[in-house]
Amino acid sequence: MPGQLFDNHSRQINYLRLAVTDRCNLRCFYCMPEEGINYVARTQLLSYEEMLRVVQVLVPLGIEKIRLTGGEPFLRKDFMPFLRTISKIDGLKQINLTTNGTLTEQHVPELKQIGIHSVNLSIDTLDRQRFHEITRRDSLPEVWRTFEALVAHGIDTKLNAVVMDQQNIEDILPMVALTKKYPVSVRFIEEMPFNGDTAHYQKLPWDHRRITEHIRSAYPALEKLTDPPGSTSYNYRIPGHQGTVGVIAAYSRTFCGSCNRIRVTPKGLLKTCLYDQGVLSIRDLMRAGATNDQLADAFTSALQHRAKDGWEAEGRQNNDPNARESMATIGG
Ligand code: 5AD
Ligand code: SF4
Repeated sequence: MPGQLFDNHSRQINYLRLAVTDRCNLRCFYCMPEEGINYVARTQLLSYEEMLRVVQVLVPLGIEKIRLTGGEPFLRKDFMPFLRTISKIDGLKQINLTTNGTLTEQHVPELKQIGIHSVNLSIDTLDRQRFHEITRRDSLPEVWRTFEALVAHGIDTKLNAVVMDQQNIEDILPMVALTKKYPVSVRFIEEMPFNGDTAHYQKLPWDHRRITEHIRSAYPALEKLTDPPGSTSYNYRIPGHQGTVGVIAAYSRTFCGSCNRIRVTPKGLLKTCLYDQGVLSIRDLMRAGATNDQLADAFTSALQHRAKDGWEAEGRQNNDPNARESMATIGG
């Protein structure tokens, strides 16, 4: 029966974010320490068969939209055949991807052909040197070629930039300016405490309000758009520009009230909130021989204990607050 998945706050869940790997070939400092993180052993990662099963169980429960993420999804072997397989699942209306764009360019025509709905490209700066400093790799040219290929193929593209004090503030306006030439959405994300390493700011210097005011000071005609249901971004347009601008309050967590999403991490842990520590191992259930009905029941009951927002979810954690998780193990 479609449309069955509701949480204990009467929010309907129709969106799954599935992380296909925790591996990454960049080392963005807000996500991982320079030496990387301890990657999960391969046998601990969900196999493609297991991921497919997760999707096949969730779609009849009302999941209509899926985002494949990582780590960097294109690092996992046979990612394209997996995409093709899930694109054939009846009832799944949208498949979206998040990628760092370093290995993506060659796959763009096939992404178009498969019918991938949209691609989020992580790019925090348009300056090669700064890109190198932030990601600890000199890969901006490859990422930019991916961007051009996505636009050339008419794939709905979003550029995601994490806003970091003293790192890429001077990139905000040039990135906003891209929306004049390109019909893309440029989105600025508040930096979150998921850097796999040390503590976060006491107070976030660049929150969504400050980012928006900074943009408005250069573009006083900035116009608010109506945000789609379940949207995590405040959306704007600049008159005369083809693209749009978004600001994501990922740290301030102003959007939790209408949250429609769940996550499955590379290890097959269900997260009912980005800020929880994982509430159920789907992998262990599958490996213990659970039937699809039992898996569906497990998802349904896990959602009956969902925190009302990211603050409550964070408060429930019993992890060491100094041992920060990495976005790559959560699923970006
Ligand atoms: N804060 C905000 N965004 C982050 N991302 C990774 N780590 C963080 C963080 N600490 C973003 C990436 C990418 C997406 C997968 O998550 O930049 O856009
Ligand atoms: Fe890799 Fe994305 Fe993390 Fe950067 S933010 S290290 S691209 S997973």
